[in-house]
Parts: sequence; structure tokens; C-alpha cells
Amino acid sequence: MDLNKHKNNIKQLISVDKELKTTLNTICSYLKTNIKHYDWVGFYFKNGTKNELKLMSFAGKPTEHTIIPFGKGICGQVAINNETFLVADVTAQDNYISCGIEVKSEIVVPVFKNDENIGQIDIDSHTINAFSKKDEEFLGFVCQQISEILTKK
Ligand code: SME
Repeated sequence: MDLNKHKNNIKQLISVDKELKTTLNTICSYLKTNIKHYDWVGFYFKNGTKNELKLMSFAGKPTEHTIIPFGKGICGQVAINNETFLVADVTAQDNYISCGIEVKSEIVVPVFKNDENIGQIDIDSHTINAFSKKDEEFLGFVCQQISEILTKK
């Protein structure tokens, strides 16, 4: 995976001033199309004042899990733990919400706005153990970029 190329492309996509949802849709499509092991890409954000996440944008198969309570699943755990969660094998997780048996591994990285955890990017892969520190670093960069546009809005 050519990290620098993808980072530059993401920067470019983000620099275009559009509605947040449109920008996130574009990022989801870009990541799913251009990175082979990213089979589903989505952004969840805190749903108003409720202690739950709401799906804002995604690329890949539609999911019924558009609302996830804090603490539930990998996403819900990241909402309260404020840390990236890299799951090499989803079958080894007790607190996991399945979006299909084809999903074998997952990574969730939080998005912060002024140090507050307000959302996350969630990526599923059909390959077991698909994600590495490289993905963690790259997705951290993507979330940081989003955080910057959120802070400006
Ligand atoms: N697997 C996630 C649920 C969201 S789907 O991957 C689209 C979880 O355990 O939180």
C-alpha cells in the first residue's frame, strides 16, 4: 500500500469545500475502491446528545447496524475507550456486532474534535488479519484530516 500516494489523495479530497457528509462519502468510496483489503468503509458519529453512534456515510454492502449504543460492539467500545481497536479475527471477540459472515477482520479509529471523541471510521475486511500498524497510522492520518475540517466548521 502506497501510503504517501493515498495520504496526498485524501488531502486533496478533503481540501474541496463540500458538505461534511459529501466529503465523507467521497472518502469512503476512495478508500474502498483503492485499497484492496478495505471491503466496507463507514463513518459513525455520536447521535446528538444520545449515548449512541449513528452511521453517516459508508461504501460497501448496506448494513442494518445504523445505530450502535455506546459500549456495544467494536464501534461502541471505541466510542468510550477513545483508542483505535484493531481486530485480527472477529470470531475471537465476544463484544462484536456482525455485519455478515464474510467479514473476518476489522479496524476502528476514533475521530476527535477539540479532544472530544465524536466519531470514528470503521473498516471491515473479508481477509483475516488484514490490518497492520500501517493501516492504523494511515487511518489516524485520515481521521486527523477530518478532525481539522470539523474544527473549522
Ligand atoms: N462490526 C461493528 C459493527 C458495524 S459493522 O462492521 C458495519 C462492531 O462490532 O461494532
